[in-house]
Amino acid sequence: MNLNIGVIKGDGIGPEIVAEAMKVLDQVGKTYGHTCGYTQLLMGGASIDVHGVPLTDETVAAAKSCDAVLMGSIGGDAKTSPWYQLEPSRRPEAGLLRIRKELNLFANLRPAVLYDELKGACPLKEEITEGGFDMMIMRELTGGLYFGERRTVEEDGVMTAYDSLTYNENEIRRIAKRGFDIAMKRRRKVTSVDKANVLDSSRLWRKVVEEVAKGYPEVTLEHMLVDNCAMQLVKDPKQFDVILTENMFGDILSDEASMVTGSIGMLSSASLNETKFGLYEPSGGSAPDIAGKGIANPIATILSAAMMLRFSFDLDKEADAIEQAVERVLKEGYRTIDIMSEGKQQVNTEKMGDLIAGYIR
Ligand code: IPM
Ligand code: MG
Repeated sequence: MNLNIGVIKGDGIGPEIVAEAMKVLDQVGKTYGHTCGYTQLLMGGASIDVHGVPLTDETVAAAKSCDAVLMGSIGGDAKTSPWYQLEPSRRPEAGLLRIRKELNLFANLRPAVLYDELKGACPLKEEITEGGFDMMIMRELTGGLYFGERRTVEEDGVMTAYDSLTYNENEIRRIAKRGFDIAMKRRRKVTSVDKANVLDSSRLWRKVVEEVAKGYPEVTLEHMLVDNCAMQLVKDPKQFDVILTENMFGDILSDEASMVTGSIGMLSSASLNETKFGLYEPSGGSAPDIAGKGIANPIATILSAAMMLRFSFDLDKEADAIEQAVERVLKEGYRTIDIMSEGKQQVNTEKMGDLIAGYIR
């Protein structure tokens, strides 16, 4: 098979971690008889430096012509980077929001898994995490507060800012269906998270999710208010299978869930539209403080590449091979510094990529 992959290396540690994911993909190609063709795409700060904007129309068109896009991370240090002197619509993050919207990537899947081998990194008490946990955050990605009308105006001499949270029933229905579809392949439980005790958008969310649930009688649906969910994530993370939620709540809860695993450098993510196309990226950020030092953990990006093989190319065996290779390096005790613990063997970014590529079977 010919895999036509767009690559956004991005900023900070992005180029280092993407290089390792490409190494692993190339090895998968060799072992299973596929060719990976890469189209380099500039986005974020890297695009600002060359084009003055975080995403050009040409890059959007080039991304659309790929089967899938693998991304590192974008953005820099907001205090020191000149990118943050620009107006908000020209900063690195604006490129990410635009590509999500242009490619209609409404379904964002963020798994939060407690790896048995990395239990020690989990900040929760052992009695809470006993037996591990494995949840999937399904975040709506192209609506809500992120894309609602916004303005800052002076009203009667007082500066006033507006951000509006808008959802229509179709937007809610399509993400809810995705959430239930994913739950069917997992433990068949959906926790829909909203703020229905206050927000109209949440009341509509709840109503539409209940309608969609009727089509999935095998899936258990529960509703949870977002503030309670934030609490439950640290109190009893095991209760969750699929968390289905709107854009802003999903942004916040997915960071919390990743922290609870203790190893954000391990967590992949996928952003999907109605077709097979997807954008795959690690859940962590660009970590400008450690960029260029060769110490970043490439595993989240490598696992994102596995998600890409699974969702965009239907290459399940190949995706399994990557996941098994990751498990094997962990089992053998290799660690990057972020997940290092006593008695383990510390390796750098490149070595971790070499080891995982070497274990592809
Ligand atoms: C994320 C990030 C982005 C978001 C930022 C960089 C705009 O936090 O992917 O979660 O808020 O969606
Ligand atoms: Mg976020």
